[in-house]
Amino acid sequence: MKRILSGVQPSGNIHLGNYLGALRNWVALQREYQSFFCIVNLHAITSPQDPRELAAKTRELARIYLAVGIDPQISTIFVQSDVPEHAELAWVLNCITRMSELERMTQFKDKARRQRENVGVGVFDYPVLMAADILLYQTDLVPVGEDQKQHLELTRDLAIRFNRDYGETFRVPEPYIPPVGARIMSLSDPTKKMSKSDDDQKGTIALLDDPDAVRNKFRRAVTDSGMEIRFDRERPAIMNLLTIYQLLTGKTREEIEDHFAGKGYAQLKAELAEVTIEFLRPLQERIRAISDEELDRILAEGAERARSIASETYRLVKERVGLVGAR
Ligand code: AQP
Repeated sequence: MKRILSGVQPSGNIHLGNYLGALRNWVALQREYQSFFCIVNLHAITSPQDPRELAAKTRELARIYLAVGIDPQISTIFVQSDVPEHAELAWVLNCITRMSELERMTQFKDKARRQRENVGVGVFDYPVLMAADILLYQTDLVPVGEDQKQHLELTRDLAIRFNRDYGETFRVPEPYIPPVGARIMSLSDPTKKMSKSDDDQKGTIALLDDPDAVRNKFRRAVTDSGMEIRFDRERPAIMNLLTIYQLLTGKTREEIEDHFAGKGYAQLKAELAEVTIEFLRPLQERIRAISDEELDRILAEGAERARSIASETYRLVKERVGLVGAR
């Protein structure tokens, strides 16, 4: 059975974009692939995090993984910092990575432009840690969005380089582009993706938002010019609202356009809010129903399973590189 690995950062409120673009696909993939789903808290600290908040968000994200339908019986759910080999392998990979390769990364360039000389070394090194995550598990396929493709390319390059210089060690992973991919945009600015770290959370529907917040955010969502409710790439705001509606209801585009024919934006926003609230209600109930004890058990088992594979790969890496100590 082929292996996949993916992760989300516990760096804020998990939102509909994370669900529709990532988590929902994982639930389907776990039946076809041996799956590792990580909570990437070491990546999260590449931007400043309040320690207490980070700890709470890490556990909340684990609950969300379970509540959306990731099954710990068949998938491995774990927290990145519980497996020290992630940071250890990242160091070894740092030593075969060129500065110029990381300087080319668009995500780094974007953040560096915004933060200038204050941009952290962790932000620069983010793709190498991601490569370590993937290579430790001898991953075959990595579900990635458009924005992560460049990082996966680097992972492949590092795997090939290491194998060439030190002997066959890592499986070279392939990107997995889900058949129904979706990039959900901010409700306040449909040219930007919906994001947890956006200062303006009015554009983001969090999975834990209450019904009033959901109604308010959809009501205030920006709209384009033109009245017709149609899937139209030229009108990103309506396209985004209709895409969310389509993914949550499972209806076809034709059915949706017929349903909204002759109706206005206000009607679409109101119906979309109700559809979202009905989707979130049982999900939030499941999130709350998971006890601390159950969560501890699942994360401990996940970390143990993950470590058994990660330590095997890292043992081989140390041997290849000649990292020996006391015998
Ligand atoms: N708006 C989105 N639409 C579709 N998919 C999305 N993802 C994120 N935003 C959208 C997918 O969610 C997964 C987890 O992403 P991450 O935790 O690495 O963070 P990110 O990609 O940087 O997304 P965020 O939520 O916007 O976080 P911040 O604001 O912290 O950067 C990935 O599979 C991603 O593609």
